[in-house]
Amino acid sequence: MCGIVGYIGKKEAYPILMGGLSRLEYRGYDSAGVSLCDDKGIRTYKRQGKVADLALFTTGKDVSGAVGIGHTRWATHGEPSDRNSHPHVSQDGSVAIVHNGIIENYRQLRAELERNGYRFGSDTDTESVAHLIEHIGKKTGVTFPEAVRLALREVVGAYAIAAISTNDPDIVVVARKGSPLVVGIGDGEFFIASDATAVAEYTRKVVYLDEGEMAVLKRGEDLLVSAIDGREERNPVITEIEAELESIGKEGFEHFMEKEIFEQPKTILDSMRGRLDPETGEVRLGGLRDHIDRLAEADRIIFVACGTSFYAAILGEYLIERYAGIPVEVEYASEFRYRHPLIRKHDFVFAVSQSGETADTLAAIRLAKESGATVLGICNVVGSSIARETVAGIYTHAGPEIGVASTKAFTAQVTVLSLITLALAKRRKTLSDTELIRLAKELLAIPEKVKTALAKREECKEIAKEIAKSGDAFYLGRGVCYPVALEGALKLKEITYIHAEGYPAGEMKHGPIALIEDGTPVIAVAPESETHDKIVGSIQEMKARRANVTAVVTEGDTATAALADRSISIPVADEFVVALLAVIPLQLIAYHTAVTLGRDVDRPRNLAKSVTVE
Ligand code: AGP
Repeated sequence: MCGIVGYIGKKEAYPILMGGLSRLEYRGYDSAGVSLCDDKGIRTYKRQGKVADLALFTTGKDVSGAVGIGHTRWATHGEPSDRNSHPHVSQDGSVAIVHNGIIENYRQLRAELERNGYRFGSDTDTESVAHLIEHIGKKTGVTFPEAVRLALREVVGAYAIAAISTNDPDIVVVARKGSPLVVGIGDGEFFIASDATAVAEYTRKVVYLDEGEMAVLKRGEDLLVSAIDGREERNPVITEIEAELESIGKEGFEHFMEKEIFEQPKTILDSMRGRLDPETGEVRLGGLRDHIDRLAEADRIIFVACGTSFYAAILGEYLIERYAGIPVEVEYASEFRYRHPLIRKHDFVFAVSQSGETADTLAAIRLAKESGATVLGICNVVGSSIARETVAGIYTHAGPEIGVASTKAFTAQVTVLSLITLALAKRRKTLSDTELIRLAKELLAIPEKVKTALAKREECKEIAKEIAKSGDAFYLGRGVCYPVALEGALKLKEITYIHAEGYPAGEMKHGPIALIEDGTPVIAVAPESETHDKIVGSIQEMKARRANVTAVVTEGDTATAALADRSISIPVADEFVVALLAVIPLQLIAYHTAVTLGRDVDRPRNLAKSVTVE
């Protein structure tokens, strides 16, 4: 993970770097640092903690300079501490670098450099690269950019880096392999960042460096890129970004997560906008235009994803198998890569990812590509690595999601998966036109119904007060509400640090029920569905063991509500779309439990928004 930024131009770099770091803090917040460069040399300031702690630390210090790099860290090698913070500076102080990724051969590099007299001040993998650039520059006498190029050829692993040097204080060198890097092009100036939201304030023109590429940024000159393994320079493709800066603020909400939960009526609508005709049930997915007919004939669809996106993919599996009749498998991307899966040329592999940068998911689709499968994507971030490495796909259009705990991205993914289901069912004639139109209308009605579910906030707050007193909680669901239960439990774990388990309710009796005792909180996701009677049975089993049961029920279902200790209702909806409603109270319960416990909702401990390391 980690976020990197950089600037070279005529303006003061420090405020630009700090602004960029604040926007990238969702990528990690174990420490933050900046290096500024001019004829006086390189000045580096870094601190364990958040960007705000770095701002306090630099108060009154010399932060002048029109060239600089910065970093916000999610620790991989070495604990969060001042000395492990980036930028890392080479032994003689001539080179400073920031890095996002993992240098896999850093031990060998470090041993070799130590033999050459280099002393290390940190436990990180990154520091070896700073010393290596200095070492190669001195040994060979090449220019600073060439020293970076030669150093990177010795590096094994994943990286996006930005480097500066006193040997050439008027340039910044950037490179990427396996981690994202964007260069924003201004008026005689360049902005560097891990993602485009951090440069959108200054420019809409960006260049996404491709895998294995580097660039030398010189103020006032055109941007030229070259392969790290080559030298030939070329003009890169310039992309216009659309990020709305306004949508990156909290807009009066206390936390980004809260704002994102309440945005869902709009974001679900945005995910469907222009894609679904309620009169005919016809679905138009421009991104899949050239593939949808072949997809409808597929023998098998495989979803690869992580975390919340994985749970959305399970919902996709349930919907596509039931309504479109195509076999679907859902795989944890981190497992898929290493379990020697059998991927066939005619398989369709879908990556589901909010960020489009998750390293495990990227690695999984690369493997699928090597096996000749057609690789498609469902991503939220436009221009992200997964979006660019898949042959086609669908954007979820949920807008920037900043809260580390995913909420609106989940409902947007489920909406898109529901659209894909309808598109496939239409082509395969597994649903009649009347059914298609009915389900399309159910989907289109969801944004308004989500508003009704959100209005139950006060009841969720009361439930949250109860859960906040507990050490653990169980989330139970069946059918399409099973992935909802998994997602509810993940939300609670991530932001409250309360141990939570999501289970298919029918599995409880095969072991986990042994953990239920007097007062154990159980959240049963029990709206009207094919398996409603089954989950009602589970509620009774839980009550018989004196669990403290909260039931999520369909409006008017007083009988189920009466079985539980308390209930929260959601509007009536068909099983095809009910997950989109049932998840709302679970998001609100997790959010308010975290607030009750005084947790850092948007920046929970040990986590980062984009997991760009394995
Ligand atoms: C969700 O709340 C998590 N923070 C996390 O599980 C996330 O969904 C996962 O890391 C996958 O991210 P992606 O969707 O960006 O690929």
